[in-house]
Amino acid sequence: MDQHRTIIEPFKIRTVEPLTVMTRKEREPLLAEAGYNLFMLPAKYVTFDFLTDSGTTAMSSAQMAAMMVSDESYAGSRSFARFEAVVRSLTGHTFVIPTHQGRAAERILCAALVKPGMKIPSNNHFDTTRANIEYVGAEAVDLVVPEGRAPSSTFPFKGNIDLERLRVFLQENRGTVPFGMITLTNNTGGGQPASLQNIREVSKLYKEFGVPFIIDACRFAENAYLIKQREPQCHDRTARDIAMEIFSLADGCYMSGKKDALVNIGGFIALHDKTWVEQLRSLLILTEGFPTYGGLAARDLEAMAVGLEEVLDEKYLSYRISVTRYMAEGLNRLGVPTLQPPGGHAVYIDAKAFLPHIPPHEFPGQSLVCELYLAEGVRSCEIGSSMFGKRTAQGDFIPASMELVRLAFPRRVYTQSHFDYILEGISEVVSRKESLRGLKLEYDPPFLRHFTARFSLL
Ligand code: F0G
Repeated sequence: MDQHRTIIEPFKIRTVEPLTVMTRKEREPLLAEAGYNLFMLPAKYVTFDFLTDSGTTAMSSAQMAAMMVSDESYAGSRSFARFEAVVRSLTGHTFVIPTHQGRAAERILCAALVKPGMKIPSNNHFDTTRANIEYVGAEAVDLVVPEGRAPSSTFPFKGNIDLERLRVFLQENRGTVPFGMITLTNNTGGGQPASLQNIREVSKLYKEFGVPFIIDACRFAENAYLIKQREPQCHDRTARDIAMEIFSLADGCYMSGKKDALVNIGGFIALHDKTWVEQLRSLLILTEGFPTYGGLAARDLEAMAVGLEEVLDEKYLSYRISVTRYMAEGLNRLGVPTLQPPGGHAVYIDAKAFLPHIPPHEFPGQSLVCELYLAEGVRSCEIGSSMFGKRTAQGDFIPASMELVRLAFPRRVYTQSHFDYILEGISEVVSRKESLRGLKLEYDPPFLRHFTARFSLL
């Protein structure tokens, strides 16, 4: 047993990229110019980019080497065969369909299998999943356990599906459920894992009702490692073994490779049975590409093949999960409340509790996002009223139920000293948090407000 308290990065650095270093004074006019919206800010002005963990990973020398020997043939490339073999041996699913990212897989599945009026259950659907389901006239139904909706609950598996509600749902909607899902980890609920026990029960229920079971497997390795840590029967199993059991419980899966395949672009669908395969491949050819490259260069398939193996290295997973816990505990020690318990890929600050003097219609989350940038050069993402607030027909603004700020950590990119530096700066923000001001919405676009909205300081 390793007795060290310090987390070390289980890799050496061999290619480096300079870090932007700026002062608060230099950042102030840039933020004003971006309309106090960090999505509008050029990345070159950001020091620590925690906007997303998606597609932001650092690749390994083994991935780079594999990319150099890729076979860029249009049809039947050697790189596809290698990628297909890795996905088959991990998931146990025979039919592997590459896509350029997760939402392309979602679009193809929905276009082929989902009809208006149908319903698809999950713990929580991610935004793009929900959007793709709704786009074809169907309904995305969230059935997460009650603990998953309670920010301060420390329940270890807040990504679990409520089995009672799922049974009732399946009884009431016979014949209208093209497939059932679970999202691992549950990103929308805070990067929270589902337990192996829960996934087994969910699988059993879907089977009982004859509903195919499809996993959104973006962060399957983080979920498997959190199961190993938190589920008593699994402490002695490897993350790979747990992941393989998870996949074996489903009829198929799809994945955004930009997370746990450790790549900057890529994704896939994998299925056990061939019933849907021809239809999915036809749609793939229409918009993504031939079935052996699916909208990717073969070098991207090579990088994913290596990444899917590297991600299950337990030294990597232990470091990865420790970083998130370290940041959550560091913030909590400073008096910054976060969603509990720490999940896999991100820390979610409860801005409503942290800045009670800023009312929801003045965007406390966005105010904190701006301050973290000004103070530290940190780019984070508001998940609150800027993203989910609604306007009534009369023009009144209805705030979101929670005001969260997500710090999502790119994989293998930042070091322990970066995280210590950030915590040091945040302790200074805490000491003068009463001086933080709210924001006024100046430009309110009709769709996806958070990407292009503009604010001014109150
Ligand atoms: N499913 C989940 C659970 C996700 O988190 C994402 C992306 C997708 C599907 C879609 O995958 O981006 O490759 O098309 N999540 C990113 C995020 C964007 O920042 O959480 P994609």
